[in-house]
Amino acid sequence: MNTLPGGPVTIAGKTVSRLGLGTMRLTGPGTWHDPHDRQRAIELLRRAVHVHGITHLDTADAYGPHTVEHLIREALHPFPEHLLVATKVGMIRPAPNRWAALGRPQYLRAAVESSLRRLKVERLDLCYLHRVDPAVPLEDQVGALAALRQEGKIGAIGLSKVTAEQIRVAGADQIVAVQNVLNMHSRYDPVLDFCADHNIAYVPYRPLNGGALATSRAPMTGALRWLLRLGEHVAPIPGVSSPEHLDELAVAAGGFQADGGDVQLDPVPAQSENGPQKRTVSG
Ligand SMILES: NC(=O)c1ccc[n+]([C@@H]2O[C@H](COP(=O)([O-])OP(=O)(O)OC[C@H]3O[C@@H](n4cnc5c(N)ncnc54)[C@H](OP(=O)(O)O)[C@@H]3O)[C@@H](O)[C@H]2O)c1
Repeated sequence: MNTLPGGPVTIAGKTVSRLGLGTMRLTGPGTWHDPHDRQRAIELLRRAVHVHGITHLDTADAYGPHTVEHLIREALHPFPEHLLVATKVGMIRPAPNRWAALGRPQYLRAAVESSLRRLKVERLDLCYLHRVDPAVPLEDQVGALAALRQEGKIGAIGLSKVTAEQIRVAGADQIVAVQNVLNMHSRYDPVLDFCADHNIAYVPYRPLNGGALATSRAPMTGALRWLLRLGEHVAPIPGVSSPEHLDELAVAAGGFQADGGDVQLDPVPAQSENGPQKRTVSG
């Protein structure tokens, strides 16, 4: 019997719940500044960890910007040892809904130092390069994070929105997690198998396709379990701002068993937005 929702996965040296929580939606509109109800966001974070036993939180300095890292500290600091707080650096926010990659090594260093202060920790458990900045050699961007890891300011390094080739260039042996889009509407990503082969956790972001896979026509449970069945290295991070949705996710992942012994749920119509379905997984 699993006590961790979705079962266990080891990321950055911690064994955490395969059901993680994406926190990008705990801001105002446009992923900008405070949410409408700050206290509700804080309570949602506490509920995820203390009530549901979710032990993988995904955030980024760019959410707000800075807002969600502040909220996570307010909600949960001092962080329990078993909680993995993953953050990301390398994107700047000129305005609501606007995002830009910035991967200059000096900037990445300053961003990590700022996240350490906001989260009030001495070391970031897991720090992703949020986007590869095409204006800076990838080796230099990952090199900056590797230097910070050497110094003990980062526990482990992740990459976001990358190809297998980029992981190779970054050095697959020093990457512990990769975050890419994967969901039932966008079913194919060769990086999924690459990660399995290289012992890298695969963290599907936008797992409900921004909510399009959480409707009466496309039930959320089927979409979540489809991801969980893709491999034991898969650790989805659905985003919620409503506590009711959080509870539903926890229930959906709570009964999941990797061996397929869980209850079979309503099938969701198969679609693909990302080209050919080279890998087919039934629900
Ligand atoms: N690495 C990257 O570049 C990147 C990019 C995008 C996102 N992310 C990460 O991935 C996380 C997830 O992505 P996302 O939040 O964009 O999309 P998502 O998880 O695919 O969908 C979130 C939406 O689904 C709704 N939802 C969740 N559970 C539901 C339920 N049980 N019933 C009905 N609706 C439900 C939420 O509604 P409510 O808000 O009303 O609860 C929200 O509108 C983010 O929070 C972030 O941490 C990373």
